[in-house]
Amino acid sequence: MPATVILGAQWGDEGKGKLVDRLAEQATWVARFQGGNNAGHTVVLGDQVLKFHLLPSGITRKECNLVLGDGMVIDPWVLNDELVNWKESSDEDPRGERLFVSERAHIILPYHRYMDSLDSKIGTTGRGIGPTYADKINRIGLRFGDLSEVNGDSNWAESTSERMNASLDAAGSTERVSKQSLLDDISWICDNFSSAIANTGLMLDNALKLGENVILEGAQGCLLDIDQGTFPYVTSSVTSRGNSTHGAGIHPGHVEEVIGITKAYITRVGNGAMPTELLDEVGDHLGTVGHEFGTTTGRKRRCGWFDAVVMRHAQRINGFTGLALTKLDVLGGLDEIKICVAYELDGQEIREMPSSASALERCKPIYITMPGFPSQTLTEWLGIAKKANSEGKGFSALPSAAQHYIKQLETLVGVPCTSVGVGPDRDATIDLVE
Ligand code: IMP
Repeated sequence: MPATVILGAQWGDEGKGKLVDRLAEQATWVARFQGGNNAGHTVVLGDQVLKFHLLPSGITRKECNLVLGDGMVIDPWVLNDELVNWKESSDEDPRGERLFVSERAHIILPYHRYMDSLDSKIGTTGRGIGPTYADKINRIGLRFGDLSEVNGDSNWAESTSERMNASLDAAGSTERVSKQSLLDDISWICDNFSSAIANTGLMLDNALKLGENVILEGAQGCLLDIDQGTFPYVTSSVTSRGNSTHGAGIHPGHVEEVIGITKAYITRVGNGAMPTELLDEVGDHLGTVGHEFGTTTGRKRRCGWFDAVVMRHAQRINGFTGLALTKLDVLGGLDEIKICVAYELDGQEIREMPSSASALERCKPIYITMPGFPSQTLTEWLGIAKKANSEGKGFSALPSAAQHYIKQLETLVGVPCTSVGVGPDRDATIDLVE
């Protein structure tokens, strides 16, 4: 069975967690391949709201194995907190049983968090992501597989803490890392995670050879990709399809299906241009009805109309085989709905995203307008979704204006929608009927 890749097609927060949670029912493995606890997934199970930053969304399916892959940067203290919470609600400690941490993944240490807290330009999540990737690229980072070599090594701790303190000093931080605290941290990480550290790429490759179903779960979104996103207002990893297999330690030939997740509108957290941003009452509607607050930092998300220029860019980079549209219900109650089809840049109409941050800042959206559809309660939307799936009605169960909107998006992006989300509940998703 080939691997399926799930990717954010916008600026993150598209609802990957909910989709992976649904697909994980059929999967034996869910692997993350990049990023760290800058990500946040919310899974709603009836009355229970579960928030994860590192644990893949498949955690809720007990038969599913979980991998934190080679391309990730992992804060062991955050991972431990999530595991403690999970144990409280499920009585399970999956470490080394069905949760495996790649020996190649890099470790976020307090030093990286101190460095990240100095950011005032990008609006990072402050979780130490960029500084940890910087150490990786500088070939001085610490990987889980190398922990046993440095555990208890006071020479290593001395030279490493000296280097860290020089960098903190040069960057203007008053924080310092002592040799002893570094030794204690390494020893704590070894005690808590040694049983879970593994050659996870090999495990995934073996699973695929045995015909098992593997999901590669992306974090953030295409526009936050370090190469293909809105640089410099991006995260520090490759969030796109090309890295899904590389960052998981398997080859790209394993992948057949690539689902791009996109909201029925668009959001962004942090700084950087967002041409369709709405600072009016429609933006307020999207933010309020859509509960647009970050899972990781609680920051208010910026909201705007669906941007087909962004989505065509994401499609070129990722070659989605299907789109999973989320939060369609949030548009309910608006008289009209706009879709950005092109930009005006310095008096010229352009159809592709400029690579320069300042040019993108000057882009004005060119819209088409579609009729709106009525608002409904979450219970009503859930009822529509359940009926649509049980009676095999697919999208025809939706109000006709909503169906036209979906068709228009498909035409503009050039990819079919395979599912449409109409509420936060696990069952509030309508599947395409072939
Ligand atoms: P960093 O990943 O913490 O370095 O933050 C860099 C940029 O990516 C900032 O604009 C963050 O707001 C944004 N970002 C990082 N992770 C996420 C995410 O999971 N969802 C949405 N935005 C994110």
